[in-house]
Amino acid sequence: MTPQTLLPPNLFAGRTAFITGGGSGINLGVARHFAALGAHVAICGRTQARLDDAAMQLRDLATPGGGRVLPVVADVRDPAALAAAVERTRQELGPIDVLVAGAAGNFLCPAEQLSPNGFRTVIDIDLMGSFHAARAAFDQLRERQGCLIFISAPQSFVPQAWQLHVGAAKAGVDNLMRNLAVEWGRFGIRANSIVPGPIEGTEGLRRLSSPEVDERARAAVPLRRYGTVDDIAQAAVFLASPMAAYVSGTVLLVDGGNSLVGSALWNETVKTLPLRNPVESQS
Ligand code: COA
Ligand code: NAP
Repeated sequence: MTPQTLLPPNLFAGRTAFITGGGSGINLGVARHFAALGAHVAICGRTQARLDDAAMQLRDLATPGGGRVLPVVADVRDPAALAAAVERTRQELGPIDVLVAGAAGNFLCPAEQLSPNGFRTVIDIDLMGSFHAARAAFDQLRERQGCLIFISAPQSFVPQAWQLHVGAAKAGVDNLMRNLAVEWGRFGIRANSIVPGPIEGTEGLRRLSSPEVDERARAAVPLRRYGTVDDIAQAAVFLASPMAAYVSGTVLLVDGGNSLVGSALWNETVKTLPLRNPVESQS
């Protein structure tokens, strides 16, 4: 289904968006909005079949004479693979105007059980992967005076039980974003983060929740609902649009106010969720 938008359908005509993790979930939602607004869209991930399916959906959304779609396999932990992916994007779609760094990995794990490799893996995907993507796209973004959008998470600034690895990685992502806003502003490149709240129907939420937890967690959101993929995509197209021409270095919370209520409910309810290894009782 074509995403609902109040923006002109040719807003991004002739522009190219490159979206890491764009084969599913929130990032695919972001890709759908860029495609529906006329952009060429490249999506990257590790799984060819998933990217091909997503690319078919995106092609269906493109307006007649509108953007092209490129699915390109790359693991964001591999800087050479990302460099090749962004170069192929330039050749097939034109230079990148918008880089969305959304690839991420998550699992629930108590800090005392987390292995060095478990911690490193999430840092490598979320933080190193965001750096690799930004670094690989720099020349093209400079040429186009483009923008960077990082998909962060509330764990960046609200500590949550069993999310140590994600908190460290996403805090790093937001700080990376701020540094890039300072350093690359002189090239006309803007950098911002989006912090999604809990988003319905996504893998991220599935890994961290259950129907019982959802019921209480939804009621605790100030807006009394979980977010949708479209809520996040609307924020992304805003940040990439001329309406945000003077917005750089900001962390945009798209979470229904959820970060304001802290993580106490989460820390209590998460204990009902299954873990790979059972947790040692305190009492
Ligand atoms: N609990 C504790 N540790 C875990 C874990 C879990 N549920 N899942 C993975 N790990 C640890 C592994 O044990 C391993 O550490 P070890 O070598 O010390 O045993 C380390 O993390 C890497 O695991 P591996 O499965 O080799 O990583 P991968 O690179 O194949 O996959 C993940 C990365 C683990 C993040 C995987 O879940 C993934 O691909 N996620 C992408 C999708 C996703 O997370 N979506 C939500 C986004 S918010
Ligand atoms: P998702 O569907 O699992 O999206 C993650 C994507 O990243 C997948 O398409 C995955 O594809 C890709 N990916 C993972 N590891 C990769 C790697 N090493 N290299 C390249 N691509 C990789 O999850 P989601 O819930 O929509 O999350 C999307 C983003 O939103 C993440 O940044 C997440 O932290 C953030 N977020 C989500 C929520 C939520 O409620 N869901 C809340 C806050 C923040 P492959 O596995 O095929 O590579």
